[in-house]
Amino acid sequence: MFDPKLIRKDFPILSRKVNGSPLVYLDNAATSQKPRQVIQALVECYEQYNSNVHRGVHTMSMEATDRYEAARQKVADLIHAPSVEGVIFVRNTTEAINLVANTWATQNLGPGDEMVVTEMEHHSNLVPWQKVTAQAGATLRFLPVTPEGTLDLTSLDTVINERTKLVSVVHISNFLGTINPVNEICRRAHQVGARFMVDGAQSVPHMPVDVTDMDCDFLAFSGHKMMAPPGIGVLYAKPSVLEGMEPFLRGGDMVREVWYDHATWNDLPMRFEAGTPNFADAIALGVAVDYLQALGMDNVRQHEIEIGSYALQALGEMEEVTIVGPTEARLRGGLAAFTTDVHPHDLGTFLDQEGIAIRTGHHCVMPMHNKLGLAATARASFYVYNTNDEMDTLVRGLKKALAYFGSHALKP
Ligand code: ALA
Repeated sequence: MFDPKLIRKDFPILSRKVNGSPLVYLDNAATSQKPRQVIQALVECYEQYNSNVHRGVHTMSMEATDRYEAARQKVADLIHAPSVEGVIFVRNTTEAINLVANTWATQNLGPGDEMVVTEMEHHSNLVPWQKVTAQAGATLRFLPVTPEGTLDLTSLDTVINERTKLVSVVHISNFLGTINPVNEICRRAHQVGARFMVDGAQSVPHMPVDVTDMDCDFLAFSGHKMMAPPGIGVLYAKPSVLEGMEPFLRGGDMVREVWYDHATWNDLPMRFEAGTPNFADAIALGVAVDYLQALGMDNVRQHEIEIGSYALQALGEMEEVTIVGPTEARLRGGLAAFTTDVHPHDLGTFLDQEGIAIRTGHHCVMPMHNKLGLAATARASFYVYNTNDEMDTLVRGLKKALAYFGSHALKP
């Protein structure tokens, strides 16, 4: 049975106090906490078999290689990738997107071409494209967002058209919480012959994601948001697409043969993993995937719908709070950004004194904040170990903060 109170016992950090109060960790969209199993996997790697992968014939190197490649298989299974050839270990979502921007996009975008993102993108799925489209003489176009915080798909067939070469869309917005209809957008992208990329930073850790069913060409996500250490992430790509891409980083391990004047490339996925990879954290990511698979991704999603509903209702009952994004938990990931008439940074600082960790600011989604006329928001984000009791603590903390700052109702 899925029981957050039992799950919490696996996460040592959750039993600490912050500023004299039990920690209430509600900043999971920024990074998740790590279970003992993942921490132990790192200790075991460094204490038992730390050696470079793919290079040595000695026992420890082979042990490290086996575990590294087993982690790749676990990741492939999690996202339903047909083979490990399309699973490339990178540092994080940002690096995965930059890899595609600096390889596929620079090779395939030209003058007059178009590429499409949404108005709700994280900076990591916007800034790299600004550069490559400008360099190519291509146009960056946007799927608009409604005032309710969902994508306006009435213009789907015009924004994505015969000139579109690439569409890259955030699966779950880290600001609005919106879950975007990636299957539908993917179909349209493929209809016009464009490639389709998904920023899965907030979806892969929280819900079942199936790249085969979706048929996306690229999917990017980070380990640290799914119980693994920071510094390990994944770019999934269809092997047939990777075959046509120039390598990004060049050096050891990504080559087959090297002469003084040229080189040939290794098989997939190694062709895109130059240099010593972050094998220890990749192995720990494999353990994090084991942990999530044991919980069941359907159960993870269901828990977040339940805790999300509870939070939306509790926050919604507070007259002083305005929630940003869709109002129904089923339409959103497990996070809620909101405003009050107290500046989010003041709110965040006050809540921290109560042991409650939330994120405040623009959450790397500045253009969407600007569009909504907001400089900053406060955001509570949930994971498998959060409980309704913690939502109650958040609401009590907010009430205390608003009373402290002399807040009065903003809503008419
Ligand atoms: N992108 C992460 C967040 O939303 C860091 O907080």
